[in-house]
Amino acid sequence: MSKLDGLRLALEHSPDNAPLLLLYAQGCLEEFQLPEARETFLKLVRLQPTNPEGKLGIARVTFLEGKTSEAAVRVEQLIEEQPEFAPAYVLLARILVGEGEPKRASDLYRQALKLNPNVADSALEKELDEAKPAQPPPSPPKRAGMSSSGDYVEDVEGEGWKDDGAPKGGAAFDLGISDMERPKLSFSDVGGMEQLKEDIRMKIIYPLQHAELFRAYDKKIGGGVLLYGPPGCGKTLISKATAGEVKANFIALGLHQILDMWIGNSEKHMHEVFEIARKNAPCVLFFDEVDALAADRKDLRQSAGRTLINQFLAELDGAEGDNEGVLVLGATNAPWHIDPAFRRPGRFDRTIFVPPPDEPARESIIEVMSKKKPIADLDMKALAKRTPEFSGADLKAMFDLATEEVLAGAMKTGKVVPLTTKDLIKAASRHKPTTKAWFESAKNYALYANQGGYYDDVLKHLGLIK
Ligand SMILES: Nc1ncnc2c1ncn2[C@@H]1O[C@H](COP(=O)(O)OP(=O)(O)O)[C@@H](O)[C@H]1O
Ligand SMILES: [Mg+2]
Repeated sequence: MSKLDGLRLALEHSPDNAPLLLLYAQGCLEEFQLPEARETFLKLVRLQPTNPEGKLGIARVTFLEGKTSEAAVRVEQLIEEQPEFAPAYVLLARILVGEGEPKRASDLYRQALKLNPNVADSALEKELDEAKPAQPPPSPPKRAGMSSSGDYVEDVEGEGWKDDGAPKGGAAFDLGISDMERPKLSFSDVGGMEQLKEDIRMKIIYPLQHAELFRAYDKKIGGGVLLYGPPGCGKTLISKATAGEVKANFIALGLHQILDMWIGNSEKHMHEVFEIARKNAPCVLFFDEVDALAADRKDLRQSAGRTLINQFLAELDGAEGDNEGVLVLGATNAPWHIDPAFRRPGRFDRTIFVPPPDEPARESIIEVMSKKKPIADLDMKALAKRTPEFSGADLKAMFDLATEEVLAGAMKTGKVVPLTTKDLIKAASRHKPTTKAWFESAKNYALYANQGGYYDDVLKHLGLIK
């Protein structure tokens, strides 16, 4: 009889024994029996609502299920409630290192060790070491899954814009939305993706630019548009470029600003963000990784987070101020986790699918990536052709693989050998595009939970419908 079986038997005799429940749940987790682990941790938390191990367990399961944002929210809440509980910091550090936030991750890990040296985790230490940014972190190309790229306010001059350009009314603001930059990005910086650009023009740009037409038909401009698709395929990029195209102000909130609001329980900040957008209309308000806010987390919504979500919905509905000219844009890899309440009319009532980069897009990504490497005249067209379904991150992985290989040779000979098209094609054939896993999940939702054709674009992309 395995240890797990033994525990299960013991639990049959004493189903409400908290230490037993914990052992059993942790055993299930170790064996990757995630649903069983989740159920058991939940039971434990129902019995002992402040049990930190139980809450941490649920966060762990969530993390292993790939719901990173939700896991982060859960751990951050746990830390808020029980700031002395070291293992929570370790898990958060682990989540953040995966999200490309090595600096915050290291800080958290150090805090954990200070609280309790026994939580040392050598695997995590190794990851933290490897993730340390070398000198200034390289700007583009970024790795997919990087999340904190969206924290700035930008204003673009242009027709619809009749002011002095300075965003108004946002001094009392500690979400880090204070740095100002003029976005130089426009659609011409986004390679390929013509269909997507046309979609965005129709659903976002024209309505903002032709406000008077819409008014003539008594149609409000504003509301929300949700961009969804596999990670690393340009959602963040195209959102920024859209701001440049719309010639409206742009305020972006990244994952961490959203999480900070959760932690601070900060309806007030949410309101301020919308107020700034209203004062600076026409304005695009962008929530990156919006599932961190809008995820269908009924149990969480019972608790502290509820007021924040309600505040967000009230702002979106225009109950707190006139949203004329404010367009809310959200990006997510996990649209199926978005609470249906967020999709009601006036909220995120339009969606745009951002597919993996098409061939011209891959060519332009490859062009950017190849700039920093010694390369013998690269046939970018051929490479783009050989990398269907590759995301931006996958293309980076291809470069990394090929570089490693060539470096190994160079170390033997002591000569710098340039990368060739052949090296890269070889590397590409060894790398399985990560978008495949995304499409596997998406396909299930699209086939079995395709409310009102919500995921038709995914089905079209997969060639399952026309
Ligand atoms: N069409 C494209 N043209 C140029 N670069 C792209 C394109 N699509 C993705 N990239 C690059 O790939 C990387 C990942 O894109 P990102 O916008 O962060 O993806 P997402 O937000 O969907 O996870 C970025 O470095 C981005 O510049
Ligand atoms: Mg992104």
